[in-house]
Amino acid sequence: MCGIFGIVTKETQNLGPILIGAGERLSYRGYDTVGAATLPQEGKIDLRKDAGKVQQVAEKYNFKEMSGDRAILQLRWATFGAPSQINSQPHLDSDGDLVGAHNGNVVNNLELMAEFKAEGMVVRSENDGESCVHAVERYYDQGHDMVEAIRMATKDLEGDYSFVIGKVGDDRLYAIKKGSGLVAGVTEDMVCIGSDLPSILPITRRILRLYDGEIITFWAGGYEITSVEDGSTIERLPEISEETMEIAQKGGYPHFMLKEIHEQSHVAGELLHLLDNSPDVDPFIEKLKNARDIYVIACGTSYHAGLLGSVYFNKFTGRAAIPVLAPQFAAQYGNSVGAEDVGIFISQSGETKDVLNAIEIARERGMGVLGLVNVVGSTLMLVSDVHLPLVCGFEISVPATKTYLNQVLALLYVALRWGEHDTKALNKIPELIDLVIEKSEEQMAPVVEKVKDWDDLYSLGYGLTYPVALEGALKFKEITYAHCEGILSTEFKHGPLSAVYEGYPVIFTAGPDDIPLIVSGINEVSCRGGHVIAIGLEDSRLEGNASQTLVIPNLDLPENLQAAALALLSAIPLQLLSYHCSLAKGFDPDFPRNLSKTLTVD
Ligand code: AGP
Repeated sequence: MCGIFGIVTKETQNLGPILIGAGERLSYRGYDTVGAATLPQEGKIDLRKDAGKVQQVAEKYNFKEMSGDRAILQLRWATFGAPSQINSQPHLDSDGDLVGAHNGNVVNNLELMAEFKAEGMVVRSENDGESCVHAVERYYDQGHDMVEAIRMATKDLEGDYSFVIGKVGDDRLYAIKKGSGLVAGVTEDMVCIGSDLPSILPITRRILRLYDGEIITFWAGGYEITSVEDGSTIERLPEISEETMEIAQKGGYPHFMLKEIHEQSHVAGELLHLLDNSPDVDPFIEKLKNARDIYVIACGTSYHAGLLGSVYFNKFTGRAAIPVLAPQFAAQYGNSVGAEDVGIFISQSGETKDVLNAIEIARERGMGVLGLVNVVGSTLMLVSDVHLPLVCGFEISVPATKTYLNQVLALLYVALRWGEHDTKALNKIPELIDLVIEKSEEQMAPVVEKVKDWDDLYSLGYGLTYPVALEGALKFKEITYAHCEGILSTEFKHGPLSAVYEGYPVIFTAGPDDIPLIVSGINEVSCRGGHVIAIGLEDSRLEGNASQTLVIPNLDLPENLQAAALALLSAIPLQLLSYHCSLAKGFDPDFPRNLSKTLTVD
């Protein structure tokens, strides 16, 4: 995830403070590199950019003094190309009179870069934002106007993105939305665009919504929207936004947690694009293949993702991966591991002290360190031999949701590719995520009603759904403050069953291959008066035996992926159940008491 901003004003003026302000508001979207450009009528574009956070780069390159009547700003969350000055955005075209910046992923970036070079263009970086600029240059230099050149460029640029571009000697800027966020703000003296509403709201409340497949041409006080599909003009007037900055930052959702749950389909799509094109996936797999023993090391939610990953590895590659909670690694394996072994260290923040301690031991013993990490530039990313980024953008809510889902998806992808199974079917996952969210919300209210007043309950799963049950229990504890224990369903009869009495809630998450076993567990609880909530695919055996069900819609996926995908998706009703129970109890799910998003202490 990155952030873009562009502005055109009536008079030449000092645009520096406006750019810095927009950059600060977009800083949650990317803080690896920052860049700004102002475009003159004649002469050279003033381009200032570098690796670093917005305050650092703005100060080092004196953004404050930048002036003009057109400017572009970009903040980058690195995916294609290291966070360096050369890979920073905005980018220039070959002769330096076009400048542009993007947010999103151009998934055929490598092929395009090779084509541009072969056509004699000057390619300076590895970053896919530069491909957007050259794709427009390609058609502009053939004599097309800017809008037409952008329309044609979209045929070449595969992936989801939005970008803004302008040229010397023009009085306008151009921006396109194709799968990534883009809104515009309009006053009599100025028009601006940004990746999200909060980047614009302090400048104006006259907001113009933009939709996928639209190009906006904007100049001081005016704009035109063009359809990418047929080149027609789209009439739309700005509206006055009533949203507060706080609501806008939450994308209209009441809590970051709900926003982040709803972002899961988008970030899953971004992750799959990235993994399909990442040069790091094969080296990551190679290290695993060559390892004597593989450990999966993490804490909390990230550990649950790793536990599920180890089940995927066994299923799709026939190789064992040993899951271990990071602080237990020293005691359990510290003296046994060596240079032949590899650890997959998983952490959203990349800064969890317990995980970093385990890495230190791994390093001392000469072990290979692979990272699965969301925060680019974090310690885990820097110390890993190879890392795969989770590309979730900032996760603000303390309970991890979208980062968990992308951790699981990344591990599933690696397991499938390593096992030489087709990964293409995973492209259905983003739309399935949206379907599961929708269906779960429809069914949720009566379940919340039954569960919300209990301060003690269980969450059970088996095989692929065992880690999901643990994750569901953690989410429930974290934001409802109830005690919810996650265990293997077959273990319930070995002790915890004694807790059950009339109405006592027990949640079963059922994989499609384990229904008979789960049904016996359900009956052991319900015949003692317990209230059973079953999560799984539509199945008369679950519906006939459980007190309530949260049904996952049928998965249009190949047979060998059904159970693995169900495990990934069944975390969603558990996330939503916790969220709604937290609200029903009057708590703030985003900031649960006593907890911190990143635990940098032992
Ligand atoms: C998850 O909802 C929790 N906030 C917590 O368990 C978290 O997963 C754990 O602290 C690990 O964090 P990390 O992924 O940043 O290493």
